Amino acid sequence: MTIIRQERTIIPVAGGKGGIGKSLLTANLAISLASMGHKTVVVDLDLGGSNLHTFLGLSGEGPGIGTFMHTGKSRLETYLTATHWRNLSFIPGDCNIPFTGNIHHQTKLRLMRNLLDIPCRYLLLDLGAGSSHNTLDFFRMSDRGMVVTTPEAASVQNMLGFLSNLIFRVIERALRNNPPTHKALRQLLRLHGERHVPLSVETILEEIGAIDARSASNIKKACLRYRPRLVLNMGRHPDDLLRIEGSFAATRRLLSLYTDPFGFVFDDPTVRESIDHGMPLMEFDPDCTAAKSIAHIAQRIVYVWDKTLNEPDQALLNHTRKFYEFIQKDTRQRSMRDMLSSPMRNLFPNLFS
Ligand SMILES: Nc1ncnc2c1ncn2[C@@H]1O[C@H](COP(=O)(O)OP(=O)(O)OP(=O)(O)O)[C@@H](O)[C@H]1O
Ligand SMILES: [Mg+2]
Repeated sequence: MTIIRQERTIIPVAGGKGGIGKSLLTANLAISLASMGHKTVVVDLDLGGSNLHTFLGLSGEGPGIGTFMHTGKSRLETYLTATHWRNLSFIPGDCNIPFTGNIHHQTKLRLMRNLLDIPCRYLLLDLGAGSSHNTLDFFRMSDRGMVVTTPEAASVQNMLGFLSNLIFRVIERALRNNPPTHKALRQLLRLHGERHVPLSVETILEEIGAIDARSASNIKKACLRYRPRLVLNMGRHPDDLLRIEGSFAATRRLLSLYTDPFGFVFDDPTVRESIDHGMPLMEFDPDCTAAKSIAHIAQRIVYVWDKTLNEPDQALLNHTRKFYEFIQKDTRQRSMRDMLSSPMRNLFPNLFS
């Protein structure tokens, strides 16, 4: 299932909860990557509520995924829409036809095959909230998708739910050609669900291994491939990262899944202002705190995304603390400059020259 071609990187962006900044992040990461000279395509795959065009500063959507799925024969590439950024093209969600979100398995496979034919260096996929099979399967197009959460407990819970569904989907697909073992897995999932006991991947491997050692080994291999990258959005203080530390331990313990802390984006009122002005954040104020945080993530994508990350647990925390100190200092300097540009400065120009 994992499909990474050497010359191209697919980055699906998901998170479980709605309204946590997936689209904001996807749109602005795409703009940053394109501005750095990389041919980038960004696709709105939130089939139930496409709105990526708004974050790109476009007034409306042209034909895109919706029309592609309903016309049956066309190639997805023909829906590539140029943007006013060099190197950035966009495929709108275009989900005006009712129930576009409920696509058939075959249509989804056709869509995924066509996505792989889109020529670019970076292919960014903005996914919807929740953990539907469609969202999970789009996410599985890369073994290093990006998961977003805010520091809020509800958002962290939904992110964990998303990762848990991801792993169970991976396991289920690994057993798709083996009906008896697949049935045993379903029973196991149902039993634990009824008892409200969290089911760990270790337990699944033990139980399935007892009846079918080969399948258990396939499951293990499939699970080990995935290593999502986590972005904390709308953070107010670097220590917000400490709040989600426990969730890394939980995914390791229960899901045998490692996640890499990858980025931190500050909560910034400029984000809302940019949306109100119908402009992408990166264009509205590239120097604001959120835009700078996103630009830093884009740089990390270029330099380390394709590498196995073995950064110390504290690496992102340390970086965010330094950035936070820089912001505080910058804010103090700005207010000093504002003071100096007051009438006092006009009255005594020599004093301030
Ligand atoms: N870093 C931030 N600082 C301040 N506000 C933010 C930030 N990120 C996102 N927002 C706010 O959150 C809102 C929701 O963001 P967005 O639409 O990107 O979320 P989403 O996860 O894509 O939601 P959905 O699941 O509904 O598609 C934005 O309109 C913006 O007002
Ligand atoms: Mg969205």
